[in-house]
Amino acid sequence: MYTTINSQDIKNHLKNNDFYTNIIVEKSVTSTNTILKELAKDGADEGTILVAMSQTAGRGRLGRSFHSPSDTGIYFSILLRPHMPASDSLFLTTSAAVAVAKSIEKASGHRADIKWVNDVYINDRKVCGILTEGSINPLTGNLDYAIVGIGINVHTPKNGFPESIQQIAGSVFSESKNHSNTNNIIIAEILNHFYEYYLNFSEKSFFEEYKKRSFLIGRKIYVIENETNIPATALDIDDDCHLIVKYEDGSIKKLSSGEVSIKIS
Ligand code: BTN
Repeated sequence: MYTTINSQDIKNHLKNNDFYTNIIVEKSVTSTNTILKELAKDGADEGTILVAMSQTAGRGRLGRSFHSPSDTGIYFSILLRPHMPASDSLFLTTSAAVAVAKSIEKASGHRADIKWVNDVYINDRKVCGILTEGSINPLTGNLDYAIVGIGINVHTPKNGFPESIQQIAGSVFSESKNHSNTNNIIIAEILNHFYEYYLNFSEKSFFEEYKKRSFLIGRKIYVIENETNIPATALDIDDDCHLIVKYEDGSIKKLSSGEVSIKIS
């Protein structure tokens, strides 16, 4: 059963009400990332959260769309104004992935893994995607603001997932849950974990956990470059969040997240 998202209930489960002062909940928006970006440009405070019960134009990485039906998912974005170079924004994504994995694992009792760089998986199915977007201050090269957008398939839609994602998508709960405030608790838990990491961001305390939860390390994969599937083995993730892979000819390469997609072989 889908539970209505409610800003007061989210706040009741937060540890840091001082940071997340403005939690906006909408029934439906185009994309929480797009709308929150507009609010950021208009001067909204760091820690503003926009949650929607559905999105009509949810967006994913690499220009993809993100299926965001009503009643079965959680879609929200966090506005940050971090003092960090734009290159570090990747770690906003990875820290958010750890926060999501821990929170949905606790709520569901199912192990949650992270597929480099921004997807969370349960039982080999993608249940969450994260899209971080930002605006760079041209004078300092630092981020003016960043938006971390999180989309979670809490339940499977009644008519299933669209054909294009049927082989990949899954949901956090395989069964209907009756707890009245599950969604609000999941959102609050994610925000709590995320804030903990964000407070001492330069320590990257989340990164060990990110690697521990890697869905790829040690697995045979395909690196998708220019629409070609190249077989490889994922060896490791380095401190700069490159995926280190070994191709079949024995060569080893460090991959950057912006350049390639990965498929499990
Ligand atoms: C991906 O799978 O590539 C990332 C998906 C990110 C989806 C979330 S839902 C909330 C926020 N608003 C969006 O339009 N996208 C992100």
